[in-house]
Amino acid sequence: MGDPETIEPRLSPPPHQPNVPAPGAAAVAPAAAAGPALPQAGPDEVALLIDDRPVVVRKGATVLQAAEKAGILVPHYCYHPGMSIAGNCRMCLVEVEKMPKLQIGCATVAAPGMVVRTNNERVRGVRAGIQEFLLINHPLDCPICDQAGECRLQSYEKDYGRGYSRFAEEKVHFPKRYDIGRSVLFDAERCIKCTRCIRFCDEVSQSHELALFSRGDHAIVGAFPGRPLDNPYSGCTADVCPVGALTWKPFRFKARVWFLKNVPSVCAGCARGCNVNVATFRNRIHRMTPRVNADVNAYWMCDAGRQSYDTLYSRPRFERPIARGLPDATVDQALDRAAALLRDTAKTGGKGAVAAIVSARLSLEDLYVAKRVLGELAGVTRLAIPSHEEGEDDHLLIRRDKTPNARGAELLGLGAPSSERVKEILDDVASGRVKGLVVVGEDLLALPGASPALLDRLSALVVLDAWKSPTVDRAHVALPSCGYGEFEGTMVNFQGRVQRLRAALRPPGEADPAWRILREMGRRFGLTSEYATAREIFDEVGAKVPAFSGLTFRALGDLGAPAPGGATPGAAGAGVSGGPGAPRAGA
Ligand code: SF4
Ligand code: SF4
Ligand code: FES
Repeated sequence: MGDPETIEPRLSPPPHQPNVPAPGAAAVAPAAAAGPALPQAGPDEVALLIDDRPVVVRKGATVLQAAEKAGILVPHYCYHPGMSIAGNCRMCLVEVEKMPKLQIGCATVAAPGMVVRTNNERVRGVRAGIQEFLLINHPLDCPICDQAGECRLQSYEKDYGRGYSRFAEEKVHFPKRYDIGRSVLFDAERCIKCTRCIRFCDEVSQSHELALFSRGDHAIVGAFPGRPLDNPYSGCTADVCPVGALTWKPFRFKARVWFLKNVPSVCAGCARGCNVNVATFRNRIHRMTPRVNADVNAYWMCDAGRQSYDTLYSRPRFERPIARGLPDATVDQALDRAAALLRDTAKTGGKGAVAAIVSARLSLEDLYVAKRVLGELAGVTRLAIPSHEEGEDDHLLIRRDKTPNARGAELLGLGAPSSERVKEILDDVASGRVKGLVVVGEDLLALPGASPALLDRLSALVVLDAWKSPTVDRAHVALPSCGYGEFEGTMVNFQGRVQRLRAALRPPGEADPAWRILREMGRRFGLTSEYATAREIFDEVGAKVPAFSGLTFRALGDLGAPAPGGATPGAAGAGVSGGPGAPRAGA
């Protein structure tokens, strides 16, 4: 990991574009003598006027950031708040009083008393010129471009362009559909050379695959020979590309972006819990993109998380309940059978005869109701959570722990994921001590130590899962539960931050959130709580579990909140809080 010092934003102007007024330079406009008064600024702040709106920002903030704070959009291509300032697209030019030339807002530091115009005739004329310049060699690809609908060239042309072309000559041609990496495709003709992708690889992923080769209108972004764009965060280059030059292959030609419904949620690929938008069309997830959360993932997410929704479609879904010996069982019949089996096993097998293995991929609400129903009512005395680890924590976001709610399970008092505890239960199945097992959200036969012969020793195997699996096939009773994107609920990431997942899809067949199935099972053991919604369950957790004391579902908002008794000190992670790709000194 590089020293964060080396990637601090270069707030001073690039050498070729002096932003400091030349000594004795003539003022271009009189001071806003009769304009709005400047507000009082604190010792670390500066006050300035932008389009007659007074604004106070932190020292070091740029004019573009100050404008953003004042609610004024300064159009820009190359500026990105998570990367250093390149100042190459010139789209953010603004007029600063007392400076004869227009200045780039992204690299001009706001100064006390500055008077800025972002939308006068002079600025508008230059913007239209920049648009015309950028479009000279840009192909007319919008009808076949995946970026259409969220492309800056398109929307800025609508808002600031001339609306017609004066360029009659042949455009420069470059490679199109070029495999620049495993998952990203490059169309060099669409590239506007903003260098965002290059800076991402240099500063955030720190993998350094990309560079700008050649000069002038022959300049082209490319990967170094033998080093394709294959870092674990390569999809972020497509996110930061302001045009359709870099596109994420799995999403190409899947859906027009204006048909997508973006649902704010959280990635469940690892214990980081990156904030994401889940984009659906016709009840199918087509894309996941990062959603900004400075405390968790800044602007980024990893490629594995971006495609984690594939698991939803990679195996056949389990849609109807199964109760051995009861063909075409209804959910109620299956639940009756499950409750009867567990009750009999607990009675005949004695204390410790029924155990449970539940997944830390379940929501907090699922785990809480599982604890209440299985632990307090159904006679389950031992409960274990399998651990799923892979690789190592990296310098940015990726966590070795692939269970997104391990911390939530711990804070609820269920214990941390532990392969040893799972093994102990399986050993007791082998020895005959454990005769009944409830498995929620795990394919037991995919875990080390489990075998079909072992499961056949059980007199009660009750399984809740979203997919068909060898474990479901061997269950006495199995009930279909929701998969990722199909339920409302919360998870606690490794930092101890509680975050909301939202339902983006209708679940298939008779699948239901696990908490609802467990609630119905609980009713057969005397559960009286209503538990009508995930919100209601979470609010009970906030009222009864000390680690969540005082938290409410509503208070979590879109960005989540630290669990009062569960925040992990020093676990902010390198991807945020001043690390690579963190939000830059802003307004
Ligand atoms: S590929 Fe996209 S992000 Fe990279 S320089 Fe070109 S326009 Fe910018
Ligand atoms: S780092 Fe983890 S939570 Fe973030 S996108 Fe990747 S898998 Fe998902
Ligand atoms: S955004 Fe300022 S020069 Fe590109």
